[in-house]
Amino acid sequence: MLSVAVLISGTGSNLRALLEAADDPAYPARIVAVGADRDASGLAHAEAFGVPSFVVGYRDHPTREAWGEELGRRLDAVQPDLIVLSGLMRLLPPALVARWAPRIVNTHPAYLPEFPGAHGVRDALAAGAAQTGASVIVVDDGVDTGPILAQERVPVLPGDTEDTLHERIKPVERRLLIDVVRRIAADELPLAGGAHP
Ligand code: GAR
Repeated sequence: MLSVAVLISGTGSNLRALLEAADDPAYPARIVAVGADRDASGLAHAEAFGVPSFVVGYRDHPTREAWGEELGRRLDAVQPDLIVLSGLMRLLPPALVARWAPRIVNTHPAYLPEFPGAHGVRDALAAGAAQTGASVIVVDDGVDTGPILAQERVPVLPGDTEDTLHERIKPVERRLLIDVVRRIAADELPLAGGAHP
């Protein structure tokens, strides 16, 4: 059974989907902790499923490195087999990535390497893209540059706003994330061997 820690910043709808999947005894992974860089509303999903949660406030630390050290201590206490960034809107410091790599995966609302960064949906719209997508990647030291584990196209529709497009991407992200975690747990997906873009 794969133990998973999930890190979030926001509403945690993808976290919720993963918690629901992991609630099925047949699913080969368990969520053992949920962490956030702020008092994220999505932490309520962890509570609803009886999963311990913690906040390591990014703004309560003088540097990204200091924040990462405290976050690292919290993760070390849980010893997860895998860390999932599910809407964590902070870059992890290199020391934390080095400590856990390649066992950190990230879900992103674009078809990487297109539109990396904090505004993947907005940037796709601004570029006038006819299609964008969803990706699940291994985290490295770059901004959404790690090996791609799964991705799928999502069309941009006439009249789409950032919200409508993002809400159409998220169900695809959920499906990909749940499947990637399942395949990692089942040893069907070697983390070091994801395909590079
Ligand atoms: C998701 O779309 C996730 O891919 C994105 O934040 C959203 C979180 O939604 N992450 C990034 O953009 C990271 N660069 P949620 O809180 O409802 O799961």
